[in-house]
Amino acid sequence: MPAILECDDVRKAYSSGEGRSEEVLHGITITLSRGECVILLGPSGSGKTSLLSILGCLLTPTSGELRIDNEVVDFSSTTTLTERRRSTIGFVFQHAHLLPFLTVEENLATVGRNAGVAPAELARRITALLELLRLESAAMKFPSQLSGGQRQRVALGRALVHDPSIILADEPTASLDWENGTIVTDMLINRARELGAVLVVVTHDTRLIPRFNRVLQMEGGNVIESSH
Ligand SMILES: Nc1ncnc2c1ncn2[C@@H]1O[C@H](COP(=O)(O)OP(=O)(O)OP(=O)(O)O)[C@@H](O)[C@H]1O
Ligand SMILES: [Mg+2]
Repeated sequence: MPAILECDDVRKAYSSGEGRSEEVLHGITITLSRGECVILLGPSGSGKTSLLSILGCLLTPTSGELRIDNEVVDFSSTTTLTERRRSTIGFVFQHAHLLPFLTVEENLATVGRNAGVAPAELARRITALLELLRLESAAMKFPSQLSGGQRQRVALGRALVHDPSIILADEPTASLDWENGTIVTDMLINRARELGAVLVVVTHDTRLIPRFNRVLQMEGGNVIESSH
C-alpha cells in the first residue's frame, strides 16, 4: 500500500517560560499507508496529542518533516495548511467541537462546502452519513439538544463528510460508555476502510486493540513499539 503520511525525525518542543523550552517529541519517524487503521496508545503526557496534532497539520513541529502523499507540508504557509486540513484531513477531538448556532445538518454542510463538495453530492452524502450515524431524527436539532453520544457522532460526521484520506481521532470515545464507544470506533474503522483512508485513533482503552490492524505505543515522547 502506498504511504500517505510520513513523519521523518519530527521533534516538538514547547516553551516552558523564561526562554527555555522542553522537547516532548524526540524524533518520531513513522510511515502510515492507505487502509491502515492505527491505534495510538501511551501514558498521559507521552505526546500522543502533540503527535496527532502535527499529523493533522494543526501544530507545527520544531524540526523534522511531514509528508502527505509524498509532498512536504509547508508549515510556514497558513493558506496551504488550511487547504490541506479542509480537503484531506478529518479530525475528531475528545469533546465534540460543534458549531452551537447551527443544526446538525448545517454542521456537516459547512465542512463539505469548505472542501468544495458540489451541493447535490453534499446533500447525498449528508443523508447517507446521518443514516449511518443513526442521526436522521436529529438532523434539524442544535447541538445543545443532543446527548453526548449523539454529539460525538455528529463530530464524526463532520470529520467524514468531505471523504478525507487521513482520519485522526483524539480519544473520541473518552466521554462515552463502552457501547457507544465501540459504535463510534467501528464507524470510524468501517468508513476509513471504505474510503481507503489512513485512520489513527488515540485511546487509553486497550480493549479496542483487536479492532485495529496496527498498534503504535508511545512513551516519553518516543514511539517505542509498532506492531501490525
Ligand atoms: N501547549 C503546550 N504547552 C506546553 N507544554 C505542552 C503543551 N501541550 C502539551 N504539552 C506537554 O507536552 C507533553 C505531551 O503532551 P500531550 O498532550 O501530547 O500528551 P498526551 O499523550 O496526549 O497526554 P494525555 O493522554 O494526557 O492526553 C506533556 O508533558 C505536556 O505537558
Ligand atoms: Mg492527549
